[in-house]
Amino acid sequence: PRKIIIDTDPGQDDAVAILLALASPEEIEVLGITAVAGNVPLELTAKNARIICELAGKPDVKVYAGCDRPMAKTLVTAEHVHGQTGLNGPKLPDPLMALQDGHGVDFIIDTLRAEPAGTVTLCPLGPLTNIATAFERAPDIIEKVQEIVLMGGAYLEVGNITPAAEFNIYVDPEAAEITFRSGVPIVVMPLDVTHKALVTPARNDAFRALGTPVGKAVAEMTDFFERFDKEKYGSEGAPLHDPCVTAYLIRPELFSGRHVNVEIEVASPLTRGMTVADWWGVTDRAPNAMFMGDIDADGFFALLTERLARL
Ligand code: BDR
Ligand code: CA
Repeated sequence: PRKIIIDTDPGQDDAVAILLALASPEEIEVLGITAVAGNVPLELTAKNARIICELAGKPDVKVYAGCDRPMAKTLVTAEHVHGQTGLNGPKLPDPLMALQDGHGVDFIIDTLRAEPAGTVTLCPLGPLTNIATAFERAPDIIEKVQEIVLMGGAYLEVGNITPAAEFNIYVDPEAAEITFRSGVPIVVMPLDVTHKALVTPARNDAFRALGTPVGKAVAEMTDFFERFDKEKYGSEGAPLHDPCVTAYLIRPELFSGRHVNVEIEVASPLTRGMTVADWWGVTDRAPNAMFMGDIDADGFFALLTERLARL
């Protein structure tokens, strides 16, 4: 299996991404989960990550708290999408498992130093603060990363938090810039892809029909989370942004895109956090990211439902 660190701000869609990874031990070995401030403050994301591990029946997964605020900006959160707890929807018990001692950034650094070079993939599902802080503090780890597969940014779909920016990149553009300039191979799941991964009523029914606590919780999470996108975009259901990352690790052929140059806007107040993707190759800037544009949504939901059934 591929060794990964999940860096996350749960978030209902983060929760589903984590469940998919934990349900797929043949393909994915979760070395640890690092929480970051994003959808809700750090205290809640660190708690929610543990709630999800316990829901999956995997209380031994190591969960660390990372950075509680972006590198340069004031934290912006998204309770308007995810609810006050970040995991509104299902009623899930408080976690019994403890948070690990130590800081999430140190866990990322120590793990990359301890494992053979090129064997650990980073999977950021929230603002890139922990990743960029680790790269700044320990530049020696950068060349040891196998790949970064992240959810963030947008090309044609553009913004969900400002007209120009997607939430994860907007919250910490400085961290995104450091990450995208790091030279590590990057796979990006932008809104262009994730707004095609919609939980239609039939797909939600399929989760519920699993008849398990996980199936029920996922159905209730996506029920709650969909109200925002239905009102805003008139979409058929909740977009499962972050699970695109973990699905890619299992079945990359579900996704297609282009290897292009992606730069992050950090200066302009109007477009801060925009991912400027050179989709048409109109500059000579070197490609630094595989920017996905399409998904086989039926294949994705079939995979997800089949894997969730295993938990
Ligand atoms: C991203 O922002 C968060 O609200 C979601 O969890 C996802 O990671 C989508 O823009
Ligand atoms: Ca997220």
